Amino acid sequence: MDELAVELNNILEGTAAWRLLSDFGKRMYFPRGIIAQSGEAKKAAAKANGTIGMAFSNGRPMLLPGFKRYMPEFEPEETVAYAPTAGNEKLRELWKNLMLRKNPSLNAERVSLPVVTPGITAGLSYAAELFLNAGQTIISAEPAWDNYRLIFEERCGGVVRGVQFFDGNGRLDIPGIRRAILEEAGSGSVRVILNFPNNPSGYSPINAEVNALVDCVNEAAYGGADVLVICDDAYFGFFYEDDVCRESIFSLLAGLHERVLAVKTDGPTKEDYSWGFRLAMLTFGSKGLTGEQFGALVTKLTGSIRSSVSCANTFAQSLFIKVYGDETTEARKNDFFNVLNERYEAVKRFTQAHKDHPRLSPLPFNSGYFMCLRCTGIDAGKLRRELLEKHGIGTIAFGSEYLRIAFASIEKEILPEVFTTIYETALK
Ligand SMILES: Cc1ncc(COP(=O)(O)O)c(C=O)c1O
Repeated sequence: MDELAVELNNILEGTAAWRLLSDFGKRMYFPRGIIAQSGEAKKAAAKANGTIGMAFSNGRPMLLPGFKRYMPEFEPEETVAYAPTAGNEKLRELWKNLMLRKNPSLNAERVSLPVVTPGITAGLSYAAELFLNAGQTIISAEPAWDNYRLIFEERCGGVVRGVQFFDGNGRLDIPGIRRAILEEAGSGSVRVILNFPNNPSGYSPINAEVNALVDCVNEAAYGGADVLVICDDAYFGFFYEDDVCRESIFSLLAGLHERVLAVKTDGPTKEDYSWGFRLAMLTFGSKGLTGEQFGALVTKLTGSIRSSVSCANTFAQSLFIKVYGDETTEARKNDFFNVLNERYEAVKRFTQAHKDHPRLSPLPFNSGYFMCLRCTGIDAGKLRRELLEKHGIGTIAFGSEYLRIAFASIEKEILPEVFTTIYETALK
């Protein structure tokens, strides 16, 4: 093992984070190589900086005029130059402050500085690689975003334990989730991914459910297990009902217990309507870690980024710093939210008026981009194909039992017609 990895492991030794690290995670370090030496030279090489693989002219990155033409308000350092491996410092600070503002219970001392990842998917992959060994289990809601199996099972060789998250009354099945967590705790460590607002159901917990979930994690930790909770907050903020908890469960988990390590993957992708920029954040939270230990985890993550994509897109990061400072952003985000809220209301009206449909029943939904129909007596894949081929309606089948509809991407005016067609087609 590289001595830099040993150094980081020594800093982390004795913590839950250290015990939870995978073999890959234990091996990871950030080399004192090109990036680190170039960083030093940036500050001190007054005469000539010959450290980095970029082309400079008069001390500035060379810039093709076409780039300048289409990005006139940006300096070459903000567009074509490499970004720091862990991301633009200003953006990382900005996101941390936003996160603290959006989650008032979150204690700034209990979290690392966010690290920029090229999309939330990448953040999830990094978290999986750092903390999931082949053969280890991670608990997830069932059904779940299909990429979880690809990441945790195919990529990392782990095992996804799918748990039905809902009871028959439209709420989380806390006893069922608790049972799964405590069973896994028997092995000495538990890994869980929580995704709220959820894909595909569109559900977010109410305050009492958040507290109950936190109690389950606490119980496992008090019982002596190390607990990793990955909070996939991709759809954070799209809360349509008054009783939905407005904060990420990460806020409570980060201050919970020394044996709990929370990892928050979030970012502008969905929240700020910028799916294609590939810009997201990963933040560690734990009661058991000092600033130095958070730093060691961030360094391991930075090594993982360096060894995969090297760094995220510079231009997207610079653009976001400007857009967050733009006086129109907050108001337009509210407008967009209202559009989605109206679509949610239209779907809710329809499903409430058709509660007695014999074959389709919605999973609980109150947030996010989606809603999901449980199919009984009809195959979801067959229904999907018929909707597409006969009616030109695109939906997603999750196995044979669930049909997901992204109401966020359908105009409010046609939602009743779309849902009428779905409900009628299911009867044929
Ligand atoms: C639950 C969930 N997490 C993460 C993502 C991916 O986000 P990104 O596009 O930033 O990789 C998605 C996108 O569909 C998602 O549904």
